[in-house]
Amino acid sequence: MNALSRICWISSPIYLLVGMAFGIWMSATQDHSLAPAHAHLNLIGGVLMALFGTFYMLVPGAAATMLARIQVGTAHLAVWFMFPGIIMAIQQRGEALAKAGSVLGILAVLLFVVIVARAPAGRSA
Ligand code: HEM
Repeated sequence: MNALSRICWISSPIYLLVGMAFGIWMSATQDHSLAPAHAHLNLIGGVLMALFGTFYMLVPGAAATMLARIQVGTAHLAVWFMFPGIIMAIQQRGEALAKAGSVLGILAVLLFVVIVARAPAGRSA
């Protein structure tokens, strides 16, 4: 496994553990108002990060590029901005962090499209 896919696959279950613990906390307190923050942490941090890790393991040539490192870094920043940002937005304490996280999130996926499109066809390219 290359370093970039290892980073993705280690961080994905860590985000899931935090997101699921947050879900258990929501259930225990019967306060579901922050469910969108929980959902975005699990889906972008947990699910998307695992998807990125899978691609970078299958296509190690793509993982070796600077663009791929920027893409994964941008995805992490998106999670770090978006999770507290959505909480703040729901609690009406400002939307700036959530907006920044959203832009970083779409940028990370856009970069991923470019990286996948540039990857040569065929297995383990
Ligand atoms: C220990 C595991 C988990 C617990 C205890 C949990 C708990 C919850 C709770 C209490 C809600 C609010 C439900 C409502 O108000 O209708 C919720 C919503 C949600 N959860 Fe989870 N969850 C868990 C894992 C996950 C995972 C792994 C994902 C995705 C990969 C996920 C995605 C979502 C989504 C998309 C919503 C809806 C958010 C919304 O309505 O804004 N959850 N979860």
